[in-house]
Amino acid sequence: MSDSGRELLDTYLARMVEVRATGAATSETSYYGALENLLNGVGRELRPRVIANGQIRNQGAGHPDFGLYAQSQIRDGAPVGGAGAIPERGVVEVKGLTEETWFTAETTQISQYWAHYGLVLVSNYRSFLLIGRDPNGQPRRLEAFALTESDSAFWSLRQSEEDQLNQLGHALQDYLRRALSYLAPLTRAEDLAWLLASYARDALRRIEASADLPALANVRSGLEQALGLRFDDAKGEHFFRSTLVQTLFYGIFSAWVQWARGQAPNATDRFDWHAAGWTLSVPMVRTLFEQVATPTRLGPLGLVEILDWTGDALNRVDRNAFFEGFDEGRAVQYFYEPFLAHFDPALRKQLGVWYTPPEIVHYMVERVDLALREELGIENGLADPSVLILDPCCGTGSFLVEALRVIETRLRSQGEDALVAHDLSTAARERLFGFELMPAPFVVAHWQIGMLLAHAGAPLVSDQRAAVYLTNALTGWQDTEGPVEQLLLPELQPERDAAERVKRADPIIVILGNPPYNAFAGISPQEEEGLVEPYKAGLRSVWGIRKYNLDELYTRFLRVAERRIVERSNRGIICFISSYSYLSDPSFVVVRRHLLEGFDRIWIDSLNGDSRETGKRTPTGEPDPSVFSTPFNREGIKLGTAVGMFIRRGPTEGQSDAHAQVRYRQFWGGHKRQDLVASLEGGDLNAGFAATTPTAANRYNFRPLGPASDYDNWPDLIALAEAEPFSGLAEMRRGSPIDTDRDRLAGRMQRYLDPTISFGTLKTEQIGPVGDASRFDPEAARTRVLLRENYSQQRIIRYSLLPLDTRYAYHTKVRPIWNEPRPEFFSAARDGNRFLVSRMMAERPQEGLPALPVTASLSQRQLRATCLACPLVVPICRSRRVCGLRASQMPILMLIQRLPKSPGFTRWLLFPRRVGFRKIRLRFSVAGLAYHCQPT
Ligand SMILES: C[S@@+](CC[C@H](N)C(=O)[O-])C[C@H]1O[C@@H](n2cnc3c(N)ncnc32)[C@H](O)[C@@H]1O
Repeated sequence: MSDSGRELLDTYLARMVEVRATGAATSETSYYGALENLLNGVGRELRPRVIANGQIRNQGAGHPDFGLYAQSQIRDGAPVGGAGAIPERGVVEVKGLTEETWFTAETTQISQYWAHYGLVLVSNYRSFLLIGRDPNGQPRRLEAFALTESDSAFWSLRQSEEDQLNQLGHALQDYLRRALSYLAPLTRAEDLAWLLASYARDALRRIEASADLPALANVRSGLEQALGLRFDDAKGEHFFRSTLVQTLFYGIFSAWVQWARGQAPNATDRFDWHAAGWTLSVPMVRTLFEQVATPTRLGPLGLVEILDWTGDALNRVDRNAFFEGFDEGRAVQYFYEPFLAHFDPALRKQLGVWYTPPEIVHYMVERVDLALREELGIENGLADPSVLILDPCCGTGSFLVEALRVIETRLRSQGEDALVAHDLSTAARERLFGFELMPAPFVVAHWQIGMLLAHAGAPLVSDQRAAVYLTNALTGWQDTEGPVEQLLLPELQPERDAAERVKRADPIIVILGNPPYNAFAGISPQEEEGLVEPYKAGLRSVWGIRKYNLDELYTRFLRVAERRIVERSNRGIICFISSYSYLSDPSFVVVRRHLLEGFDRIWIDSLNGDSRETGKRTPTGEPDPSVFSTPFNREGIKLGTAVGMFIRRGPTEGQSDAHAQVRYRQFWGGHKRQDLVASLEGGDLNAGFAATTPTAANRYNFRPLGPASDYDNWPDLIALAEAEPFSGLAEMRRGSPIDTDRDRLAGRMQRYLDPTISFGTLKTEQIGPVGDASRFDPEAARTRVLLRENYSQQRIIRYSLLPLDTRYAYHTKVRPIWNEPRPEFFSAARDGNRFLVSRMMAERPQEGLPALPVTASLSQRQLRATCLACPLVVPICRSRRVCGLRASQMPILMLIQRLPKSPGFTRWLLFPRRVGFRKIRLRFSVAGLAYHCQPT
């Protein structure tokens, strides 16, 4: 959410306070300017813009303080409707800050205004009330909003907590946007989505303000149990509350759509949100809706009023125009996306709730259909009744809807028209499964499938539903022992049971979709029972990878799918679009091995578009946006992505380990989505792909290895070093054992290690590591070091903090003064030994050569990422040293930097002259620069 709400509030309050501070303000008119600025600040963000104009001319109903004009009422510096046109968005009547009575009592003046202008926004600067007409033409109090309850509180509002001011700023902005748009025609889905999101945000604010929700405690536990997750900490609590609000609003909106469709075009009946629960056809939503929407629960949360306003907004929609434009196939882009973008952008980002662009969905579903036919010998592909399909993170249901489309087309092409409706409906209910965790996309998935079926002449009847379930896709896959758990909300039991049946029993052979990206902080992963542990096995011991990152959420979805197809179904297809980090990132070496062992064929479409690796540029420097960047979501995502399709044809006995054939191709530039779709032509699964050769030597890299084909046979820095390279030292004590001045450091550490000086004194003087930090108790640390060591000049070392920034540090191996003291490094660094410092991974594209010789101990972050220091002389003991790479024989340093566009490791090759390599040949290839050497 932008901070413009907070800015508006700050500017408004600052100006109000300034006017008051002159000591010459009248109670009402002196503050007009501040209010006018506020209204115009909000009006500027609306389309068309709304302009607040002060002291409008008497148009037969007195002088309202402001008129609210739409920009469209003005053209070429003149009023479109001629002089005296009524302000399209109503008028504003201002009262003194201390006046209260107008809020509850009618005044003739206000009645006169609403009768003439249709809408009056009344304000005493701290409270706002909208007065309009009811359906019978009578005055009616509409939405109200208060910054503070009293004028004294208003003047001290600026001193409130930051969080409170942020909330108030957004709430004020939301309220005024609605007030200034109240009379605007409501015809477009985007506008209605924004309006409902604005009410939903208000509802969320009110729920969040109720510190604990005893009324909802059982709903919370019931939901945790039914979904198979635990809402941990504040973020989990937020997720829970957001879930409730989404359910309420999507419930009401769905009910309204259903109700509106049943109305005659010019009917004047009004929609009653209280009856919404009755018309909701998806049991999970109906149950949750009913749980939340009971008067006993809504009342204390202050939600009845907001839902009344929401119902009122829905009744203002021009239904004919709305449904004409609410192209059903586009409900996602026009309604769902804008709703979520406005309602809870942070949660949306955390859960990776981006809908998948239609071209990608189309491409993947068609490829899966082709693979079923060609690779698994299922002649009718997705249309075969034996094919069970799962999208474990189905969002708005795009993949399921597309699969239904493919099935429909196939059946019709086979002249099966009579059976199409029956087969489609059966497929949607019995073999196309979807899981989703968020109610908003879940509801939309049901709409989309429902609409497709209705268009195909196979509408779902009253007790039928599509097989899309609200559930946590990452839990509940393993059979549990003991009696079946009874749910606290028994109404949710059928949903949970159905989802578990899919997870445990149904023979799924296709798993496809677009898994979310980030690990969501608020949901406890404990329930996942160590899902990705198998992907960590051997990372350290076999592959020497000390730091790895398998936290991206898609990894867990990949594991769920791999386990299901390889270990249960024993045959099938996975097709995911995801981050492409698994293709070559060292952390994923075990993942790749699993895939190579469990599947027979792998196809990778690298879709590039990564901000870090290539800066979103093609090899020729053209823009290379993410495939998720669409006209509706221009920003897309930062990560490079790939479509990976993995096929297991059956039991793999007799096959060698890691036997899968891998084929790879890539797409670049702004037309990737269209190019992908075009590549379907010809129906050849392999066209345009080239085989790659993942082997243990290249850490099972799925990517092609570039022009230096023998590259992986060349020894790397580590292989050539006589001793294991060192990781740098880690100091996390706010720099206290480090200084640019040797004497100053010595003086400070001498005091710190002087047992006659108390810890309290050191703390007051801030000498040495005396500050509290997480898991660092400074007093206990000092006691510990005093027991073991005295101050020693010998412990002052030269310390390379960053390239070209060498300081002094006081080193001690007594933990936890240093977080990672690395005593071996300390010994190796004595006597001016040199190190060649580099790192294993490129950090960014075209970063130059990340290596330098250093004659000091160094910080772990010296080269930003974890770096390694290879000693040029290796001490074995004090008197004996092994000449590894002696400083006097400065080695010929050679490097291959992996071509910028074919990402991977940055490798350093180091050849001491003595061992026989002399000639170096530089070779320039089309893709970049490689160095090559020849033994002589
Ligand atoms: C990238 S979106 C999928 C978009 C979908 N293909 C579409 O076009 O709408 C990922 C979805 O996974 C859902 N999700 C995240 N964590 C989940 C979980 N643990 N179980 C089920 N769904 C989850 C998110 O709510 C989100 O809707």
